[in-house]
Amino acid sequence: MTGCDAVLFVTSAYSISAKALARLEAAAAGATPLPSRLIRLERSGPSLIDALDALRAEGHRDIRVQPFGLPFPEGLHVWLPGVMADWRARGENADTRLSLGPDPATHAEGLAAFADAALTNEAPAKDVAEVPPKLGKPGWNDPPDFDFHLLVCTGPRCHVHGAVDLLELVKEECAAAGISGRCLTTRTGCIFPCNRGPILALYPHGTWYRLPDRAAVRAFVGEVLVAGGDLPERRFHTARLARARQDHDD
Ligand code: FES
Repeated sequence: MTGCDAVLFVTSAYSISAKALARLEAAAAGATPLPSRLIRLERSGPSLIDALDALRAEGHRDIRVQPFGLPFPEGLHVWLPGVMADWRARGENADTRLSLGPDPATHAEGLAAFADAALTNEAPAKDVAEVPPKLGKPGWNDPPDFDFHLLVCTGPRCHVHGAVDLLELVKEECAAAGISGRCLTTRTGCIFPCNRGPILALYPHGTWYRLPDRAAVRAFVGEVLVAGGDLPERRFHTARLARARQDHDD
């Protein structure tokens, strides 16, 4: 690795436990003597923008962004240079050189070493001879009963627009309002209007909202879910069927 003075490892992991994340962080930290950190590109934790800001505030002016994960999503690898260039265009950031490392999955020897390490892992393989056969749990037969289906985007582009921890904020505010039992909250990957992020879609209402902070989430829960009203200043889209219903009612 040439030139850089810090490394920002980025991983794409929608579902990962705190323990597994800690293992990734330890591996990343052990991979370079340079100052480094690891962030997730989705769901929670500091966004790419926040992490670059933090590294620059620490005095780093030549930062390598290194995809970390097998496979690393190709779409994200294509998307990252533009976001990084956007960060460089902000304020004084042009004094910082940014480079994007290659997708590790394009390195044949590295992949072979990874496969080899999987087979030579000292932990014993689990024999399923004594495991009762099953394809699921009894509780997985029916969806929970609910009034509101909240689709919360935790995709990488909403994350970079500040959707950090939106899912948790929504759950906390629903709990504080005493309506958790009426809500089915589902985290989603990208559902298209990334530039509006952080976003949430509410069904069966068919209304979509931009909720940039806790105050906005609280207003949405109070005005829309609890009071049954609307939050026009946060709503940016109404689905076709919902529009047709509205036209019919008017
Ligand atoms: S990442 Fe959220 S809509 Fe695309």
